[in-house]
Amino acid sequence: MDDADLLSILACGNPMLRRPARALTADEVRSSVIQRLIERMRATMYGAPGVGLAAPQVGEALQLAVLEDGPRQWSHLDESERMAREREILPFTVLVNPTYEVVSEGRTVGFYEGCLSVPGLTGVVFRHHTVRVSALDERGESLTQVFSGWPARIVQHELDHLSGVLYLDRVESRSMSTVENFAQLWAGHPLDEIARELGFAEH
Ligand code: NI
Repeated sequence: MDDADLLSILACGNPMLRRPARALTADEVRSSVIQRLIERMRATMYGAPGVGLAAPQVGEALQLAVLEDGPRQWSHLDESERMAREREILPFTVLVNPTYEVVSEGRTVGFYEGCLSVPGLTGVVFRHHTVRVSALDERGESLTQVFSGWPARIVQHELDHLSGVLYLDRVESRSMSTVENFAQLWAGHPLDEIARELGFAEH
């Protein structure tokens, strides 16, 4: 795959990011058009780099998202930061028409997250710790899978994109930081300290 295959990622303010996406049929998923889109989204996610990408972010109003996390994506974190986030290996996963139910009712976890459609910024979002996802996979076959920790955060973030929701709609607004300030001031610090200093509440 060369650079010509990369898709451009829409930034917030673009109304495409605010429209609900439509479901795909299993036949559509198996079509060459969608298979090609999946490959291009995968390459675009790697190139960004990111751990998830939803079709509306590349201008396609379709209920389709790709996810992947692993050492290549978390190389900037030390081991304690990775553990604190519960970042575990998430193999490349395609979710079509996904829905989820909360498994960890009442247990939410706050962490800084970012979005390829909101460049340069990061903020704290409280997410469910564990969710069970029902979807179609890249072959158009039914998939049910439980995600916990950071993979559950990625799933919830990407599924939001499919209904026109950005993390900005859920963020603790007083936590918002440039990526540079986050790296200089807050990386590796406990969330309660950051919450105290910036003046947001922990859930
Ligand atoms: Ni995003």
